Amino acid sequence: MTRLIAPSVLAADFANIQRDIEMLNNSDADWIHIDVMDGVFVPNISFGMPVIKAIQRHAKKMMDVHLMIVNPDQYIKEFKSIGADILTVHYEACTHLHRTLQAIKLEGMQAGVALNPHTPINALEDVIMDIDLVCLMSVNPGFGGQSFIENTYKKVIQLKHLIEQSGSKAKIEIDGGVTDQNAHKLVSAGADVLVAGSFVFKADNPTETIKNLRLLANS
Ligand code: DX5
Ligand code: ZN
Repeated sequence: MTRLIAPSVLAADFANIQRDIEMLNNSDADWIHIDVMDGVFVPNISFGMPVIKAIQRHAKKMMDVHLMIVNPDQYIKEFKSIGADILTVHYEACTHLHRTLQAIKLEGMQAGVALNPHTPINALEDVIMDIDLVCLMSVNPGFGGQSFIENTYKKVIQLKHLIEQSGSKAKIEIDGGVTDQNAHKLVSAGADVLVAGSFVFKADNPTETIKNLRLLANS
């Protein structure tokens, strides 16, 4: 199966968002990763609905929305209406995770669950069949540009095992500190989707960087 690249617009230039989204449209990027932070679940605030609407006006690729917010249930319909194709919530932010996942799917979106670096894979045992995407955080969520946590490799292997054992169709996404130094090792461990923010947008040539990362992930 082809491994996918999902550049994170958190590292884009918001004063030139149309330019940056068009760059992604014309690149080898598969999805557009959109990080929503509320200043409560994580110690940072990123952006909300008006910015996502602006992104959607230009985006020609799947919108992979990663919610780092408390009480995501309150906004599921609204994220659907502004173009989310995949909606990922945090395990740590959902008291009734199973209900939340059903509500996301009822809106016709793919349902994702993100795990913080400290959350064990076995926390997903009883919901893995209901999940389309597991986002393994390879940094503590809240900021771009942090360094990759090495313990992630072990979690990818454990998660791959859980998915195979259960017969789940969930994809494994890695989010945080992804570069050309760890991409190949991550897909070898079982990753299907690599999110990359700073590595793409701070590069001299983002289009070329995406292309190379995708080649590396599929080599
Ligand atoms: C972190 C976000 C990430 C972030 C990744 O909380 O979920 O998606 O944008 O940025 P880099 O690739 O710079 O670590
Ligand atoms: Zn993210």
